[in-house]
Amino acid sequence: MTIPHKDGHFFNIYNIVKEQPIGIFDSGVGGLTVAHAIKQILPGESIIYFGDTAHLPYGDKSAESIRYYSHRITEFLLEHNSKVVLVACNSASASAFDSLKKEFSEKTILFDVIDPVVDYVSTRNFSKIGVIGTKRTISSGTYEQKLREKSHDTEVVSLATPLLVPMIEEGFIFDDISNAIIRAYLSGESLSGIQALILGCTHYPIIKNQISKIFNFNIEVIDSARIVSIILRNTLEKKGLLNDSGRVKDQFFVSDYTTYFEKIARMFFEGEINLKKADIWS
Ligand code: DGL
Repeated sequence: MTIPHKDGHFFNIYNIVKEQPIGIFDSGVGGLTVAHAIKQILPGESIIYFGDTAHLPYGDKSAESIRYYSHRITEFLLEHNSKVVLVACNSASASAFDSLKKEFSEKTILFDVIDPVVDYVSTRNFSKIGVIGTKRTISSGTYEQKLREKSHDTEVVSLATPLLVPMIEEGFIFDDISNAIIRAYLSGESLSGIQALILGCTHYPIIKNQISKIFNFNIEVIDSARIVSIILRNTLEKKGLLNDSGRVKDQFFVSDYTTYFEKIARMFFEGEINLKKADIWS
């Protein structure tokens, strides 16, 4: 197995072997929704998760800052030998994925969370859909532009819902405060008549049930976790890189230690998780 060297000269997409782990990153706990789906759909894979809790939330940051963070985190995940780097964050997918592809596509297999969802939507015949996400994701116009290219006949309404990430990261879920905030955002006129709502932020599946309830469970609430995991599985299978050896070792890193991260990670991954602080910013 080729171990990438810190200076980068051994990284090469042609040297990848299936035993290497899948690298995943997000600003915080949101990407755990994707990591969780990966563990269900690709149970033989080991994951390395990086939550950039020191810079949370990404949704309020400039595209330049998010690109800078994403490049450094991708290097970190490569230093830990990741065969895949999955950008499990919509804000980073919208702001940094193109530049990550330019720099790293010869070194690792890259995935984002927006393109697979856009492809999925193009297989359905929705007349009107909504997209909710952070300010960064919505103001980038990435979903609207990509959906327009692939689903010409679908009307798309986008809405920034910036309070939802801090709310979730502060542990306000399944209570009156979170219900009131969710309702205030989603009961506006602009979303009336939608047949589906894209959760354009990987934190939002944590409150998926509360969101569905606002629409009386009458619309399809689409989150990227399962969709991305299935595409990742198919891709690895096709390339002969799907790990089914059964020797799994997951690692979780954060840039700033928070007990909440650990609590949510344990909720998703039951029992002991191996959480470490990685000081990649000093
Ligand atoms: N979970 C992320 C996303 O999908 C980041 C949210 C944030 O940090 O603002 O956009």
